[in-house]
Amino acid sequence: MKPATVAAQALGWIDEKTRAVSPPIHPSSTYIRDPDNQFRSGRSYSRSDNATYDQAEAVLASLENAKGAALFSSGMAAATAVFLSLEPGDHVLAPKVMYWLLRSWLATFATNWGLKVELVDMTDLAAVKAALRPGETKLIWTETPANPMWDVTDLAAMAALAHGARARLAVDSTVATPVFTKPIELGADIVMHSATKYLNGHSDLIGGALATRADDEPWHAIKTLRTQLGGVPGAFEAWLLLRGMRTLFPRVRTAAANALTLAEHFRGHPLVEDVLYPGLTNFPGHAVAARQMQDGFGGMLSIRVKGGERAAIATAAHVRLWKRATSIGGVESLVEHRASVEGPDTPCPPDLLRLSTGIEDVGDLTQDLEDALKAAQR
Ligand SMILES: Cc1ncc(COP(=O)(O)O)c(C=O)c1O
Repeated sequence: MKPATVAAQALGWIDEKTRAVSPPIHPSSTYIRDPDNQFRSGRSYSRSDNATYDQAEAVLASLENAKGAALFSSGMAAATAVFLSLEPGDHVLAPKVMYWLLRSWLATFATNWGLKVELVDMTDLAAVKAALRPGETKLIWTETPANPMWDVTDLAAMAALAHGARARLAVDSTVATPVFTKPIELGADIVMHSATKYLNGHSDLIGGALATRADDEPWHAIKTLRTQLGGVPGAFEAWLLLRGMRTLFPRVRTAAANALTLAEHFRGHPLVEDVLYPGLTNFPGHAVAARQMQDGFGGMLSIRVKGGERAAIATAAHVRLWKRATSIGGVESLVEHRASVEGPDTPCPPDLLRLSTGIEDVGDLTQDLEDALKAAQR
């Protein structure tokens, strides 16, 4: 089966008992113990595992070409589990441009807990190489394309650097999705998704997921932490996520086509300073993106509005069709002034609007943004 078929048919699963095409939801928090004191079902309590996760985890593992996958209650729960599976004192590298709340958690909780966190420009391989401390660096964390400037990391090169220093590579692939990038095939050890975004795609759940290259000791440590910290999704969320993933391919392909059209339209626009999108040939990360992303460059882009922060916020204020809201990866298009969210430490310029392109008619989306840019000048 090709990945689009895997997703659409959720691996072709049929319920044996009822012949249902859509799987049941198992809300049970607990499972019967056998009379001889065993748990032959393989499950005892839903903070460890729930039968509703099985299919969503299997579909994601298949799409990522992974040995296994694990659902979490949010993208943050998934990402933080990877870091917390390390030891205090371990050195980790993370990108300067990355999802801001994880960067902020690394700078506060993770640092206080004892991780030695170093932020580097991951588009600069020499800088990453120089920052690696063989034996002490245990993890390179990267995100590509990275919020909200869409820096592109060369994953094959990063995996070689990590493994050369006996470190592991984890990739936040939320924006790329398994449709456009398969980090494990490029050498990554762990892939992370905020399933809240494209995997689910309908802005109606908070969820996270990890996928692993190997069924190894670090993966078991992460799964144990999931049970201990309790960052598991509810059964209904897991079911919704499986349903959302069935339409992953047509959704993200349409979003990416729309994003490319918008990027090309607003490049060189008199009211726009710059357009940041890996699909544009003049974008700094384009060559790497063209090599490691298949079939498209994703649905996320940013525009830098002429006139600075005031003009950017005013543009967002005048959209009618785009929704002024945080988050990404839904079927509806969202616009956000990122610097307002990320606070004073952000590398995000104040004139930047982040655009999460949905699957609406691209002519409608273009016109609405055109109108808003013009209205902001008045
Ligand atoms: C790239 C990326 N990673 C991680 C997260 C965190 O995911 P969640 O909001 O599901 O905890 C987000 C959320 O915006 C994100 O955009």
